[in-house]
Amino acid sequence: MAGFDRGKQRVLYLLAATGVVILFVNLALLSGADVPSKIKNISIPIPGKAKTGQDAPPDPNLPKLPSWHHDNSDAFEELAGIDDQHPIVDLMKKGDEAWNQYEESRSMTFKETVHKYRIQYGRHPPPGFREWYKFARDRNVHNVDDFTQIMDDIRPFWGIEPAEIRSLAAHMHEKGEDGVSGLHIRDGKMWKLSNPSWRIETMAQMIEPFVKNLPDMDVAMNRLDQPRVVVPFDDMQKLLAAEAAGRRVTPDAAAEWTLNMTGLFKENDTAPVITDPGWFPAHGAQYMNIAKEACPPESHARDDTTSLSSAEAAYKSQQGGFITNFNLSSDLCTVGPEIQGKHGFLFAPSTIIASKRLLPIFGECKVNVNSDILFPANMYYKDDERYAYDKTFDYKWDDKADSIIWRGVTSGGTNTADNWMNMHRQRLVMILNGTVMADKDVRIMTQNTNQQGVYHNFDNFRADDFAFKHSDVGFTEPYSCHPDCSFYDNVWTYKNMTTLSAQFKSKFVVDVDGHSFSGRWHAFLQSRSLGIKATIFREWHDSRLFAWRHFVPMDNRYDDIYSILTYFIGLGKPEETNQPYVQRHNFEGRKLGQQGREWASKVLRKEDIEIYMYRLLIEYARVMDDNRDRIGYSADGSELDKYDSKNSMSYANGGHA
Ligand SMILES: *[C@@H]1O[C@H](CO)[C@@H](O)[C@H](O)[C@H]1NC(C)=O
Ligand SMILES: *[C@@H]1O[C@H](CO)[C@@H](O)[C@H](O)[C@H]1NC(C)=O
Ligand SMILES: *[C@@H]1O[C@H](CO)[C@@H](O)[C@H](O)[C@H]1NC(C)=O
Ligand SMILES: *[C@@H]1O[C@H](CO)[C@@H](O)[C@H](O)[C@H]1NC(C)=O
Ligand SMILES: *[C@@H]1O[C@H](CO)[C@@H](O)[C@H](O)[C@H]1NC(C)=O
Repeated sequence: MAGFDRGKQRVLYLLAATGVVILFVNLALLSGADVPSKIKNISIPIPGKAKTGQDAPPDPNLPKLPSWHHDNSDAFEELAGIDDQHPIVDLMKKGDEAWNQYEESRSMTFKETVHKYRIQYGRHPPPGFREWYKFARDRNVHNVDDFTQIMDDIRPFWGIEPAEIRSLAAHMHEKGEDGVSGLHIRDGKMWKLSNPSWRIETMAQMIEPFVKNLPDMDVAMNRLDQPRVVVPFDDMQKLLAAEAAGRRVTPDAAAEWTLNMTGLFKENDTAPVITDPGWFPAHGAQYMNIAKEACPPESHARDDTTSLSSAEAAYKSQQGGFITNFNLSSDLCTVGPEIQGKHGFLFAPSTIIASKRLLPIFGECKVNVNSDILFPANMYYKDDERYAYDKTFDYKWDDKADSIIWRGVTSGGTNTADNWMNMHRQRLVMILNGTVMADKDVRIMTQNTNQQGVYHNFDNFRADDFAFKHSDVGFTEPYSCHPDCSFYDNVWTYKNMTTLSAQFKSKFVVDVDGHSFSGRWHAFLQSRSLGIKATIFREWHDSRLFAWRHFVPMDNRYDDIYSILTYFIGLGKPEETNQPYVQRHNFEGRKLGQQGREWASKVLRKEDIEIYMYRLLIEYARVMDDNRDRIGYSADGSELDKYDSKNSMSYANGGHA
């Protein structure tokens, strides 16, 4: 055959091979497996949806082909596909991209990890870093670099003297009414717990697997639900500047901790306490009054002349009001003024004992302006049936109900007849109540008439029917009321208690805060259901969870709740053009739920909690070591080359093909 040279032949082979790859990618996509990142941009052919040219609208009358390989028979027809211009499609794509970048940036060896550490933080890793690295790798750590939360939390402490940190850590538990427990490590053992409760006992269990590798130290743990420390903005800037000025990577740092330092806690110590933590009570007071002092002067929280809409543009889509930046959506300097009357912790917190002074206090959660040192919440480590994942009712996605479920008590703040409408749980229960919504308009999105897959805002949706059909939300008990809870008698009916697992009969599990963070989040992610999350609190795991890939983020005002639900569940019929219509996106819901579940099994394990805690405690130990500027791991990391090649981190483990 003339002209059929080997070059062309190769091109044909390549084309054929590409076709096979595309086929496999699609199979993998439809069966829920992760797609190799390099070919993520190949579009998915939709049967029955012939391409009719760039600009022509798709013909809605084309027959739908039966599905040909998949047991979820609705998977194909639900794939909204390449013509879907719903904003959530783009958000999921961005979520995938952010996550892919995270995956691809991971260090694979000790050498790389150490190198990256120095570049990023401007210091050597702390003493004991090699042992920590092996501990982490032996337990299949997924991303050995992602501990920036710890670095951020510890950072301002470089601005105060090590002896001062030690003194505070040693003595803060001593006044019972301050709400602090103490944990004391001596000679590689858990020596003692002061002012103990289940919380610090759980924390001690978390530390036990590696306590033998830790230097002597005292840890002060917050035993209240609510966070504690708010350092005013200017003070914090000085502390951070001191940290930045002190960065150095010296060639010959001492690899050892300093021994026999003064100021650790001693039993029956008569030495005077040299530091006053400066606690002040602010129970029931609006929290933004305290919080805003920590915000930049030009921020929305401190500058009345700034408008919300400019801040909103940074974290929320105009179309549908979806959260585009989950982190910013809970930044109180940005959104605080808008949600202070919509969240119990901000409006009427039950217990606040705060300080404006930088204190080394370990806490399970905080809002963005707090300087508490985050550690993985005890509830995530303890096997408590109210919070731990249990698969009993975690049916396959398609066997779950098309509904959103929430159960809980009326916590969040101190409830009174006058203030309960300003609390987040109470607002959630109201907004998902069909009777309540009968005379209220909410915004959703609706498909353009005659333009399949193109949507616009629709501001006058009456959600009552939809809520009656798809929402199962209510309180199980009143709690935390003043003077008693009788003012709720005519407001709602209490629902029977359900187990956490029974909630997984629903496809959509919504998670909002209580008095502070919600302890259910890990279990929700572990389940096959899809987690929808609104929170103002920060936790240890934030940087490893990707909105719109592992869960659906929700505005703390809940003004996007029906646009989210109608997207996944679907609404109306395309031919009823006087009614809002949203195509059902069941496939996408199943996929996000599945991605969250697979991810949780890699990054939210008990091992991950131990790895985080271990790293936290060596960073903490260094910043309060008298020789903190001269100690650290200063070698190049090559001594673990052999270990690393024997235990090489597989890409498959990272979700790559
Ligand atoms: C630390 O104290 C122990 C016992 O109190 C003592 O044996 C040891 O020599 C001391 N080490 C240093 C470096 O001072
Ligand atoms: C501390 O004081 C208590 C009560 O006075 C006493 O029982 C205990 O033995 C003392 N402990 C030490 C280490 O001196
Ligand atoms: C929903 O609201 C109605 C009207 O306020 C109330 O009677 C009902 O008990 C509420 N349902 C729940 C589950 O709270
Ligand atoms: C709730 O519990 C009560 C008492 O156990 C029972 O009689 C009732 O049927 C339950 N209601 C529902 C909806 O399950
Ligand atoms: C959230 O934003 C802050 C400020 O921009 C940043 O320091 C922090 O690392 C972010 N957190 C996450 C989890 O992305």
